Amino acid sequence: MSTNPKVKPINDIRSYIAALEAQGVMHRVKAEVDWKFELAHVSKVNEEQKGPALLYENVKGHTIPVFTSAFTTPERIAICLEQDPSLTMCQLSRKWMELTTKQMIKPTFVKNPPVMENIIPEEAVDLENFPAPWFYPDDGGRFFGTSGYLVTQDPDTGWTNLGTYRSQILGKNILGSQIISGKHGDFHMKKYQERGEKMPVAYVVGGDPILFLASSTLVSAQTDEYDVGGALRGRPIEVFKSDLTGLTLPANAEIIVEGWMDPEELMEEGPFGEYTGYYSGNKMKDYPKPVIRVKRIIHRTKPIFWSTTVGKPINDTHMVQSINRTATLWHDLETMKVPGIQSVYFPAAATGRFWVIASVKQMYPGHSNHVADAINGSTTGHYGVKGIIIVDHDIAADDMDRVWWALATRFDPKRSVQVINRGRSTPLDPGLPIEARDVVSRIIMDATTPYEWKNKPNEIFMDRAVLQKVSDRWNEYGFSGVSPVAEMIPRLTRPEVKKK
Ligand SMILES: Cc1cc2nc3c(=O)[nH]c(=O)nc-3n(C[C@H](O)[C@H](O)[C@H](O)COP(=O)(O)O)c2cc1C
Repeated sequence: MSTNPKVKPINDIRSYIAALEAQGVMHRVKAEVDWKFELAHVSKVNEEQKGPALLYENVKGHTIPVFTSAFTTPERIAICLEQDPSLTMCQLSRKWMELTTKQMIKPTFVKNPPVMENIIPEEAVDLENFPAPWFYPDDGGRFFGTSGYLVTQDPDTGWTNLGTYRSQILGKNILGSQIISGKHGDFHMKKYQERGEKMPVAYVVGGDPILFLASSTLVSAQTDEYDVGGALRGRPIEVFKSDLTGLTLPANAEIIVEGWMDPEELMEEGPFGEYTGYYSGNKMKDYPKPVIRVKRIIHRTKPIFWSTTVGKPINDTHMVQSINRTATLWHDLETMKVPGIQSVYFPAAATGRFWVIASVKQMYPGHSNHVADAINGSTTGHYGVKGIIIVDHDIAADDMDRVWWALATRFDPKRSVQVINRGRSTPLDPGLPIEARDVVSRIIMDATTPYEWKNKPNEIFMDRAVLQKVSDRWNEYGFSGVSPVAEMIPRLTRPEVKKK
């Protein structure tokens, strides 16, 4: 349920764009823009400057507009989540964690889904009729799927999975898909392979943007992302059952590509400028990918195409990874019942996945190690993380200036560092040799003052009463606006010891 009175409920890209417009963070590009490089270059430069979301209304050779930069600022993620736009990434992640730790909400099946308004039959399918961008000069072609997701179903249990796996156009009716080994789409594909059957699939563009956030989140196996989207919205997501593939699909999507994936049919795909800021470096012929043979495309009337620029930080990809990994790690630590967790944060600048910071209120010797060990063993933290930083409770995990201060003052490399030699890695990590990316090492940097120290360093604090006076007299000093002091008092003054 929305906590922001300015924003109407969001259930598709159109209502999300309207909400962004109401908040003044949406820009329509009227000039003609080329889908080859120019569109991505404009978006990237705009994102570097923390500019607004963009809707390209005049894409060369196309009538369909392209929406980019949906989530490049915390404000826009907050708007999508129907939360207060002033919340930080940490605060938004906490809300996410709280909502998804409560109760999942099943989707509602509707008749006459808007996405069925137009049906392009197999013989008329041409993926290049959609304004899929070509992002960077060394990319292998046009990528249809960046801000979208693949829908698959477990043939044994009926579990529906939504997974964001990028998709390149490989032919008029052929869409590639980079489903990295161990992802849920890969689980499903292997089951079809064992049965000797083709897998029904659908690639979705648009619809409620909460589903894109959910589909790029490490949700546990056998959990439908529609239920997660419902939990985040506080109401059911509207879906329908496809009469072609039998898959459960989002009713308000803009465009859905439907077809079958033969686990035995692999093709060269890529290269693609990855979120790491590098190409994977794999020889495309040695690393072929499964493909969708398209049987039909359904779309809303006047559809909107949605894309993200990927590439170097910070863009939508890093923001999405930052919020969803922060939220799921927080969720993991809550469900593991690790005490004292104040906040958790995967910085977007570190691509939203390789480094994580956790803040803890220490209650026993070794507590900070307990937190680091739990992160290392968690569903989210075991995969791709290279660095874990632990700070004390007085520092928020996303307050980078103070995280640096803790590393400068509460940290001794010999005492505070541990290196774990082997952890699960991602094949996209450019910090590892291209031919050896299965396993990565991991560093734990404990920037807390040890709980057991009897003689702790004496920290500088300010006088509470005088700070209160400064706050009260703020405007008398000639400063305008509301005094910022109240929010600072807990950090700048000695913690109050409650008298019994
Ligand atoms: C924009 C974006 C692009 C992504 N591209 C891929 C990709 O090409 N392949 C992949 O395996 N994961 C990719 N991911 C990460 C997955 O979406 C993420 O691991 C998610 O948990 C996968 O869904 P699953 O857990 O249901 O398998 C991408 C994430 C984002 C935000």
